[in-house]
Amino acid sequence: MKDILTANFIIETTRTLTNMYNHGWDERNSGNLSLLLTESEISDYCDLNNFIREIPTGFEAPELNNKYFLVTGTGKYFKNTQYNPAENLGLFKIVNDGKIARLLWGLTDGGNFTSEFPAHMMSHSVRLAINPNNRVILHCHPTNLLAMTYIHSLNEREFTRTLWQMCTESIIIFPDGINILPWMLCGTNEIGQATAEKFKTSRLIIWAQHGIYAAGQNLDDSFGLIETAEKAAEIYLKIAHLPRVNNITDENLRELAVKFNVKPRDGYLS
Ligand code: 13P
Ligand code: ZN
Repeated sequence: MKDILTANFIIETTRTLTNMYNHGWDERNSGNLSLLLTESEISDYCDLNNFIREIPTGFEAPELNNKYFLVTGTGKYFKNTQYNPAENLGLFKIVNDGKIARLLWGLTDGGNFTSEFPAHMMSHSVRLAINPNNRVILHCHPTNLLAMTYIHSLNEREFTRTLWQMCTESIIIFPDGINILPWMLCGTNEIGQATAEKFKTSRLIIWAQHGIYAAGQNLDDSFGLIETAEKAAEIYLKIAHLPRVNNITDENLRELAVKFNVKPRDGYLS
């Protein structure tokens, strides 16, 4: 067996978590990550015929049967993962129609997967049905997006249009816009189901007064989605109280969509 700490998926995950912490998006234990891995990616690093313990998930997801996920642990700090990946991360195999998560590696202090496991797994199911290459679900608490949910309408079209207007690159990076859930109790199957439903039409989902979720083909892709939306939100907060004298118009947004070959969400441009 090779040392799993030298595996690319561990190195890239810990780098991403550190980066997110350094952006100020993941105070204390906030945020969580799940990365779908193939058997061939992990078989050199981990005995797939053995497991450490089994944890009931509290939901069913037959479509995830026999899939492997690297997941952050509940209560774990993103800032600490780089120094002790084995204590802060867990590698799970999903079995029994999604009802059981088998720990193959990690969570060495007896820890559990993130409290947002339902949101992660249910969202993977939805995004994989849309794009079989989806690998990552990422959650964090970015300051400016979070602040915006207190002062901006939570209408998805209005919120999206505001972000598109704040930065030229926004519509290119998230042409599907941003979907929004009203405040809900976190860590439940209910918010998991609601999040997964929202992932049917966008790769970015805001949890009002809480944070954001992103789905992507790899860690950079999902990180970049949040980074771009958060930058737009930061600009909005810098200018929202000032008189606006210049704008990115709908005509400009249309030009961008043509030039960069993206399809803006239907009905979002007037
Ligand atoms: P966990 O520590 O359980 O991952 O929870 C953090 C969080 O952001 C909850 O939404
Ligand atoms: Zn959270």
